[in-house]
Amino acid sequence: MQNTRIIGTGHYLPERILTNQEMESFVDTTDDWIRQRTGIHQRHIAAKDEAVSDMSAVAARRAIENAGIAPEEIDYIICATLTPDMVMPSAACFLQKHLGIRRVAAVDINAACSGFIYALEMADALIHSGRYRTILVVGAEKMSNLLEWNKRDTAVLFGDGAGAVVVRAGETVDDQGAVLPGILSVFSTADGAACDLLYVPYGGSRYPITPENAQEIEPGIIMNGRELYKRAVVAFGEAIAEALKQAEVDPEEITIFIPHQANVRIIASAAGRLGMREDLIYLNLDKVGNTSAASIPIALDQAVQDGSLKTGDMLLLAAFGAGLTWSSAVIRW
Ligand code: UT7
Repeated sequence: MQNTRIIGTGHYLPERILTNQEMESFVDTTDDWIRQRTGIHQRHIAAKDEAVSDMSAVAARRAIENAGIAPEEIDYIICATLTPDMVMPSAACFLQKHLGIRRVAAVDINAACSGFIYALEMADALIHSGRYRTILVVGAEKMSNLLEWNKRDTAVLFGDGAGAVVVRAGETVDDQGAVLPGILSVFSTADGAACDLLYVPYGGSRYPITPENAQEIEPGIIMNGRELYKRAVVAFGEAIAEALKQAEVDPEEITIFIPHQANVRIIASAAGRLGMREDLIYLNLDKVGNTSAASIPIALDQAVQDGSLKTGDMLLLAAFGAGLTWSSAVIRW
C-alpha cells in the first residue's frame, strides 16, 4: 500500500528579533500583558526587501538537504501563505525560480493559519493518486506587512518566517512486515459563516487599493479576539478527535503534539480538555509568536533539530485560523 512520508524538514527565521520590551516603546502594551495573555516573548521580523518566497527558499533548501535528495527530484510545489510576494504570480512560482526547479506544478493555497496542514493533505492526496512522488510543502508568511503597529490587539501577536517539508511516496510496511513512518490521517475543514471573526479587508478585490478606500476602509488585521479564542478551543478539540478517529489511534498513543502556535492559553485549554499531558506539547511561540501558515512547519523542524521529535514517535498536528479554518494530522514519525 502507498504511504506518504515526510523525509526532510527545514525552517528559516529572519535575523531581526523584536522583543515585547522593545514594542513597549511604540505600541500601547506591556511585556507583562503579552506574556500573560499569549505566552509570546518575542517575534522575528523580515527585512524590508525580504519576501515570502525568499524566506521559503532558505527553508526549502534546508528541507531538501535534510531529505538527502536533489531539487530536481521534486515534482510538485505547494506553498501555504496568505502573504504571497505579489498578487501574481504565486509565491510557489517565485520559490520554484529560486530553487532552479523547472517544469513542475507550483501553486499557493490560502487557508490562513491552517494552511500548512491543508497543503499537507493535498500533497498526501496527490501522492495517493499515484501521479506524483516527491512534493515540497511550504508554509511561509510575512505577517509584519499586514500589521498596524497602533492596533495593539493584533500588533503583538504575529511574526514572520518559513517552514518546509519534503514528502515522498513510500511503502507502509517493510520486507519484515514492520510498520514504516508515514501520514496516518489528515483532516481539514472550514466554516465560512465565521469569516468576520478575523480578516484583512483592504487590498483585495472588494476593497482594492484606491485613495477612497485608503480613507474609508480599516487597514490591517481586524480580529474579534475573544470570540476567536472560544472558537479555537472547540475547533482544536474537534480537529484532534477527527484526526485520531481517522488514524484509528487512541489519544494515549500520542507521544508529541505540535499545535499551531497562536496563544499558549488556547493550546493549554484544548490539550486539557483532551486530558493530554502538558509535557507532550511542543511550544516555540515564546520565541516566534504566531507565524500563521509557517507556524507548524517551523516548530516541526525545530522539534526534529532539538531531538524532541524522534523516530517511532506518534505525532499529532492541529491548527485553526481565519475562515474559520481548522485542520489536523496524525503522523507516525
Ligand atoms: O491564528 C489565529 C489568530 N488569532 C488568535 O489566535 C487570537 C485568539 N484570541 C486571543 O489569543 C486572545 O483573545 C487575545 C490574546 C487576542 C486577547 O486576550 P484576552 O485575554 O482575550 O484579552 P481581551 O481581548 O479580553 O482584552 C482584555 C483587555 C482589554 O482591556 P479592557 O477592555 O479590559 O480595559 C484590552 O483592551 O486587554 C486589553 N488589551 C491589551 N492590553 C495591553 C488588548 N490588547 C492589549 C495589548 N496590550 N496588546
